[in-house]
Amino acid sequence: MKTKKILITTIIVLIFSGQLIVPVRAQKNPENKSTLLAFNDKGKMYIGVDYYPEHWPRERWETDCKLMKEAGFNVVRLAEFAWVLMEPSEGKFEFDWLDDFLVLADKYGIKAILGTPTAVMPAWAARKYPETLATKKNGQKIVWGARKNNCFSSGTYRLLSERITKAMAEHFANTPNVIGWQTDNEFAGPVCHCDICLGNFQDWLREKHGTLEKLNEAWGTHFWGHKVQTWGEIQIPDCTGEGSWSPTGNPGACYDWRQFNSWLNVRFQHEQVKIIREICPDNHFVTHNLMSFHPEVSYYDLAKDLDFVSWDNYPVWNKPTISYGAAMAADLMRGIKEKNFWIMEQTAGACGWGNFFRNPRPGEIRKISYQQLAHGADAQIWFRWRTCTAGREQYWHGLLGHDGKPLRRYKEAAQVASEYRSIEKYLVGTTIKSDVAIVYDYNSIWSLWGQSGFEGNNVRDAVSRYYNAFFRAGINVDIVNTTADFSKYKLVLTPDLIVLPDKLAGKLNDYVKTGGVLLADCRTGVKDEYNLVHKRTLPGLLSPMLGIEIQEYGAITPDFSYELISDRLFSDKFTATMYVDWVIPKDAEKVAGYNQWHLENFAAVTRHGFGKGSGWYVGTIVKEEQFYDKLVEQLLKDANINKFIELPEGVEASVRQGNGNKLLFLINHTEEPKKVIVPKDKSDLLNGGKTGDFIELGIYGVAVIKL
Ligand code: GLA
Ligand code: ZN
Repeated sequence: MKTKKILITTIIVLIFSGQLIVPVRAQKNPENKSTLLAFNDKGKMYIGVDYYPEHWPRERWETDCKLMKEAGFNVVRLAEFAWVLMEPSEGKFEFDWLDDFLVLADKYGIKAILGTPTAVMPAWAARKYPETLATKKNGQKIVWGARKNNCFSSGTYRLLSERITKAMAEHFANTPNVIGWQTDNEFAGPVCHCDICLGNFQDWLREKHGTLEKLNEAWGTHFWGHKVQTWGEIQIPDCTGEGSWSPTGNPGACYDWRQFNSWLNVRFQHEQVKIIREICPDNHFVTHNLMSFHPEVSYYDLAKDLDFVSWDNYPVWNKPTISYGAAMAADLMRGIKEKNFWIMEQTAGACGWGNFFRNPRPGEIRKISYQQLAHGADAQIWFRWRTCTAGREQYWHGLLGHDGKPLRRYKEAAQVASEYRSIEKYLVGTTIKSDVAIVYDYNSIWSLWGQSGFEGNNVRDAVSRYYNAFFRAGINVDIVNTTADFSKYKLVLTPDLIVLPDKLAGKLNDYVKTGGVLLADCRTGVKDEYNLVHKRTLPGLLSPMLGIEIQEYGAITPDFSYELISDRLFSDKFTATMYVDWVIPKDAEKVAGYNQWHLENFAAVTRHGFGKGSGWYVGTIVKEEQFYDKLVEQLLKDANINKFIELPEGVEASVRQGNGNKLLFLINHTEEPKKVIVPKDKSDLLNGGKTGDFIELGIYGVAVIKL
């Protein structure tokens, strides 16, 4: 009741103050914009910075623009936190300051991406409409004053968001150097527990399940007497506990709560995108800056409204390591829309809010940037231009220091820009073509969140165990949704795919039957689409294809482990940890087993020829990464995929191809020089000349070879 009253009052207030949004036409198809957008009409790639004119005196703006131009930059992202400066009081807009900056930027050939500023609501909004502030789990309102303070269900907030978006779109639609939009900033959270969210959740559940009977069945409410008899009885479940002993809510309810929260973000963005597409010219793009593996929002759903995705890459924290994570994130970002992406924020210096971390070493931000280029980044934007002297991010360093001097990091970024300029003609229209796909599924992430089965089990780690081995083997991988067309791939892996609806099981079976090689592993297919455990013997509908049955299973706690044995896959000593399936290799070949009296008859790794393809199963988690190298070697052989390069440790390879070009990127992630054997007599694009038998990469060295 209370919720409804607030909503109605808000709408009435907005109607009478003339601020209600006029309905807009249906959204135009975002797919008509290709990634060639990343290269402007003169074939120049977009390279630039995140810039905050509001942080610096006007007298400094021109110096900044001049320095940007000198560095070879041609784009800035602006305004994503400047709501109160653009709408200082409700319904009164002030864009003059941004217009002035845009005119200046234009003078220096710099284009702009504008952020809708809804990640930080103005103080007046929080004071006037307190219901727009999110409510914590304990019922308290979030204190206004950081960012991401809002409730995404609040009708008031949604109207405020639509109004500023509309005002910006109308004002900047014809500004000559505005090229596109970023919605909000890094969607996800806060997860709000207010009455409006509860009401929205109940409505969403009604939409999803249709009847209470179905909802009760999907949530398994016969357990602990959780049956609900009216929609109004449904509460926001307590889902924050981790591990098997936490007193958390019903897993079906938590699963739906997570899907619902993802949907809330997607709906909020959709409302902004609709307005931008209606008002702005067709050549304006709409994107959003994602956070790689952040688990709260389904990026597949969020990206449906976007022309392409962008992401924020911050891989420099503690001691230098091989950047597997940033490569894997890039491959997911590319997999989301199955097309190239932009880097909207790229590490430019030491990162940190309260404490700052390591300062990137000479050559390091260059190689970070090349790594993304190698995996399909079509634009490169550094975060941020100049290190801020105020606020929460005083220690999150930009290309320039607090003193505004263009020193080492600026010079390195300028070097990157000039090198990119020298190769951009070869990059246009190229992307990564992979024979291997790894499936990444949000439903499985949400199922395992709070009920991971065994300690430490999560999708990201499961994916990276295999991914890192492909990285070491120099093989490109696509990370894709369950809905992807698997027939494009010779090899598909489904790590930790715990949620397996029958239809998806059928799709995996068909894939193998028609010639694909599939690898499934621990906990694959345990649950149905509602997060209820299947009643079948594991691995359920995959059993005939994998040729196995899983009789029992259990955790391996850190106080013990098993030794693995194999006469086919390896002769090394490998250790099974964390989890073990008691796999009966029925029709499958036992590729590896356990050196342990009670597991003698069970398999750790199996392979089964099925139809024209084969299905592999791995029933444990192995401590040593060399195990995954050996396994991947076998999988590649089985799938007829050629390893085309031998890489020294710490060197990464990736190939971008298309438009008549094929470019091999080599990146040295270490602080030792490395030699790599490469194809002979090919153009070495960065160093000039032709390749010999091998190429030498210095500390953090990079090479781009035109094959
Ligand atoms: C994120 C945000 C930026 C900034 C950086 C650094 O990626 O999008 O606004 O806060 O982190 O903290
Ligand atoms: Zn709320």
